[in-house]
Amino acid sequence: MYKFLNHIDLMIDFISTKEKPIILEFGVERGSSTKKFIAFAEKNDAKIYSVDINDCSGVSNSDKWKFLQSDDLEIDNVIRNFNEIEKVGVDLIYIDSYHEDKHVQKLLSLYFKYVKKNGAIFVDDVDNLYFRKNKDTWNSIVYDLTIDAIKEFYFNNTDKCSLRIIYDADENGLAMLHKKDDFGNDANKIQKIWNYNFLIRLFYPYMRMISKIFK
Ligand SMILES: C[S@@+](CC[C@H](N)C(=O)[O-])C[C@H]1O[C@@H](n2cnc3c(N)ncnc32)[C@H](O)[C@@H]1O
Repeated sequence: MYKFLNHIDLMIDFISTKEKPIILEFGVERGSSTKKFIAFAEKNDAKIYSVDINDCSGVSNSDKWKFLQSDDLEIDNVIRNFNEIEKVGVDLIYIDSYHEDKHVQKLLSLYFKYVKKNGAIFVDDVDNLYFRKNKDTWNSIVYDLTIDAIKEFYFNNTDKCSLRIIYDADENGLAMLHKKDDFGNDANKIQKIWNYNFLIRLFYPYMRMISKIFK
C-alpha cells in the first residue's frame, strides 16, 4: 500500500535496500537532514559524508559521520578527503546546498560518475508553488530554472538514469535521478536540446481559438 513519506524518510527508505550504504550530502546548515541520516547510519552500518561551505562540524560527533568544510563544486578536495567515494562509489547523493540552476547541474555532471549502479541523486527544493503563493518572483524563477536544469541533465542522460519528481506542497518538491549506468562511468556532456520558441507558447491559446473560428 502507498504510504506518504517526507523527503528524508523517502531517501532513508531508498537507502535501506542497500548493503552498508554510503551517503554523500551537500548542505548541512543546522543538520536537520544530516542528523536523520546519522541516526539511520548508527543502526544500519551506513556512512555519511557531508560537505558545507560553512563550518558545520559541531552537528554531530558520531563516528558514522565525516564532515568537510568546502565548496561542493571543488570535487578534487571532496574526493581527496573522502577517498572512499572514488574507490567504491556512493549509494545516495543528497543535494541541498546552493539552490541555483547551474550549480545544481554542475554537481550532477561532476558527481554522477561516483554513484553506484541503482544508486540515486536526490535534489531538494524543485517546486516553486510556495513562492508563487507568496508572489515571490525571484525565488519562483530560481526554482523553475533548477527543475529545468535537472530535466536538461536527464534529457542528455536518458540512457544512464531515470528522473522522478515528487511534488508535495509541504516540502517544495524533490527530484530523484535513479542511476542505471555503472559506477565510474561519466555522465554525458550537456548539450542544448531543441525547444519551441517561448513566444509561440504564449500565443498558442489564441492561435487555437482563431483556428477553431475558421474551421
Ligand atoms: C538549505 S541549507 C541545508 C539544509 C540541510 N540539508 C537541512 O536539511 O537542514 C543549505 C546549506 O548549503 C550550504 N552551501 C551553500 N553553498 C554551498 C556550496 N557551494 N558548497 C557547499 N555548501 C554550500 C550553506 O552554507 C547552507 O548551510
